[in-house]
Amino acid sequence: MANITVIGSQWGDEGKGKIVDWLAAKADIVVRFQGGHNAGHTLVVGNTTYKLHLLPSGIVRGKLSIIGNGVVVDPWALLHEIDELKTQGIEITPKNLMIAENATLILPVNSSLDKALEEARGAAKIGTTGRGIGPAYEDLVGRRALRMCDLAHPETIGAKVEKLAFYYNALYKGLNAQPFDVDELTERLKAVAHRILPHIQPCWRILDQAKNDNKTILFEGAQGVMLDVDHGTYPYVTSSNTVAPQAAIGSGVGADQLGYILGITKAYSTRVGSGPFPTELKDSVGDILTERGHEFGTTTGRRRRCGWFDAVQVRQAVKICGIKGIALMKMDVMDTLKEVKICTGYTTPGGQKYDYIPSSEDVQAQLKPVYETMPGWQTSLRGMRKLSELPEAALKYIHRLEELIGVQAAIISTSPERDDTIRVKEIVK
Ligand code: GDP
Ligand code: IMO
Ligand code: MG
Repeated sequence: MANITVIGSQWGDEGKGKIVDWLAAKADIVVRFQGGHNAGHTLVVGNTTYKLHLLPSGIVRGKLSIIGNGVVVDPWALLHEIDELKTQGIEITPKNLMIAENATLILPVNSSLDKALEEARGAAKIGTTGRGIGPAYEDLVGRRALRMCDLAHPETIGAKVEKLAFYYNALYKGLNAQPFDVDELTERLKAVAHRILPHIQPCWRILDQAKNDNKTILFEGAQGVMLDVDHGTYPYVTSSNTVAPQAAIGSGVGADQLGYILGITKAYSTRVGSGPFPTELKDSVGDILTERGHEFGTTTGRRRRCGWFDAVQVRQAVKICGIKGIALMKMDVMDTLKEVKICTGYTTPGGQKYDYIPSSEDVQAQLKPVYETMPGWQTSLRGMRKLSELPEAALKYIHRLEELIGVQAAIISTSPERDDTIRVKEIVK
């Protein structure tokens, strides 16, 4: 099988974990390439539910799982997740989990600053997950971050932490917070190193060897295109690039290795945290989607905002990322609706029309959706495994989405369960 790059085409939580796990049956390696434990990817296999934050979803099938250089890793969160999965019978060893030696560490100073800044923003908060993602990426581009490879040199960790303290303590002073203790953090890092170091590898070389051996690689995105720091609804975004080309940068492979770009796409829209969401429903239909879709965050437990499918938004994601086909998720959540709506454009109170999402947050805040309405299918799709089982009205909805976004649904998902998945067409040979 050729490589596949899986990304979220909306605001995250589209069902990437489920599809990566399903595709992983035929893959050799699964690679995470950005984000950190802000992600929450859910896999349901029979009676067991796995919730993954940092670990690539291939770990559940025992596939070689790589945390690429583009990921920001909180070592304590990682060890906690490894221990949790062990209790669910998943064996994690240096043979099946490798971490790039040039991946950035998330440290307690990052998460405490993340939370302090959110508090200071008050009503204008971004609604981050509080995991320290933004500050850790800032440290990386600010050239003061500690990276995985630094754990192998206990004698110089203290000096590196000092460099961080120089920067952070100036910030903390401005926030009237206590300076952080250099010695304490240094000792904590030295103490954790022995459990992490056996997993550290130059992962770009492992992936190069895999290419030479004709192995199949799945690149597992986190978040979604609208949370991309460049292409998303800035500043209400995460601090990494979530678009498909980041898979190359964040794992150390050539851009020609990404293979088929699969956009994981919910049959409606959700967003967690603040920021523009033109098709948001604040009525009983929104409540139905939240409740039937169990739209509560995997990472923070927050209620996700729900709305109609936004074809303008997904079409933009398709074009920006070179998405070749989508996996259409959670169709079953809409089963009971009498009618369903699709956003096909926007207007502003000033009478301006848009067939794309403009970059200005001021304009984004004004966008009002223009809808097309279709009859609902009012039949349970839950658990369907064949395209021929889908009722006419559901097929019409899917075909209209395909027409509007410009690519086809290669996969349709009808429940959280691994095998309740319709393969509409072979995406790669
Ligand atoms: P991810 O972050 O993109 O991996 O998505 P999450 O795991 O955060 O959220 C998706 C949620 O929807 C999870 O609870 C999945 O178990 C669930 N899910 C995935 N596919 C389907 C589906 O087709 N139908 C229903 N009802 N739930 C689904
Ligand atoms: P998965 O991989 C949905 C959102 C947060 C917040 C913004 C910035 O499960 O799809 P951050 O902590 O990253 O600085 O928060 O991004 N966010 C997500 N929303 N799914 C995710 O991941 C998310 N990861 C971050 O809610 O609005
Ligand atoms: Mg999620």
